[in-house]
Amino acid sequence: MKILITGGKGMLGRELRRRLSEHTVQEADLPDWDITDSEGIFSKIEAFAPDAVIHCAAMTKVDDCETNKDLAFRINEEGSRNVALACAASGARLIAVSTDYVFSGVPPREPWAWGEGDLPSPRTVYGASKLAGERMVTMLCPSAVIVRTAWLYGPQGPSFVHTMVSLGAKDGEALKVVDDQRGNPTSTEVVADAIAFILEKPEVSGIVHATCEEACSWYDFACEIKRLLGERFKREIVPCTTEEFPRPAPRPKNSALRKSALNVLGYRTPPWKDALEKFIRAEF
Ligand SMILES: NC(=O)c1ccc[n+]([C@@H]2O[C@H](COP(=O)([O-])OP(=O)(O)OC[C@H]3O[C@@H](n4cnc5c(N)ncnc54)[C@H](OP(=O)(O)O)[C@@H]3O)[C@@H](O)[C@H]2O)c1
Repeated sequence: MKILITGGKGMLGRELRRRLSEHTVQEADLPDWDITDSEGIFSKIEAFAPDAVIHCAAMTKVDDCETNKDLAFRINEEGSRNVALACAASGARLIAVSTDYVFSGVPPREPWAWGEGDLPSPRTVYGASKLAGERMVTMLCPSAVIVRTAWLYGPQGPSFVHTMVSLGAKDGEALKVVDDQRGNPTSTEVVADAIAFILEKPEVSGIVHATCEEACSWYDFACEIKRLLGERFKREIVPCTTEEFPRPAPRPKNSALRKSALNVLGYRTPPWKDALEKFIRAEF
């Protein structure tokens, strides 16, 4: 297959390039490929004529989006519209990556995780701009797949895992980590595998949640990183509340995702602890 990856220099994009190396892969990232340049992106996608476009390019710094709202919507909404229009015109299949931050608060029912059909309710500019991007994609490319993932870490980062590893390597005071926000820590390898699976299933369209199985808090996540690093992690970790660690963009209380669509297809992702162990053993 000929595959184009927007945001191909980013953390997930790099993993996808590695995972899909048996295909002809073109990375499309700044400065040469700017998804906000509608004519440029249209003509470049038309010229490359991909079988599939995996759309990862986004403004991903959640707090920066709060203070740069126009830019967040220009990249995450209008950029997604430009990519979707080009895919619709060229006949390329579109797989667009989105986020658990389209949700906020707490899922409405057991097992306390958001399903693909649940109504999004973003509370941040990042989440709202990504949701607007999702809507552009489904409106312009009804056969597109929207892959929502969450709490990503991958080789070179930046990620929560990299931050914890570097903070834990130094002696110092105990680290306070938020214990009242839940989600699914997920390696880029797990998402890339799920996307590779979807690529082989042309009949799949619509929203697909792709994260590791099982949920935890940032505090649980940090404790597991410490456990896996053993003596190389020198500091204590103590739980704190969201109020003790305020951020410009309000994080969802529980953004854990159910993987109903993948499970119906017979596909299962690993538990987050297994994926994290594999990653830490390989990277640190
Ligand atoms: N990281 C997470 O925890 C997480 C969680 C859920 C969903 N996601 C989604 O997963 C996808 C990939 O995320 P990631 O973590 O790999 O993010 P990332 O490392 O920030 O990668 C995004 C890439 O897109 C590029 N980009 C930004 N604006 C662009 C533009 N106008 N035209 C072309 N490329 C542009 C970025 O370049 P610059 O670096 O130069 O800006 C970067 O290389 C995103 O759609 C994100 O919303 C991420």
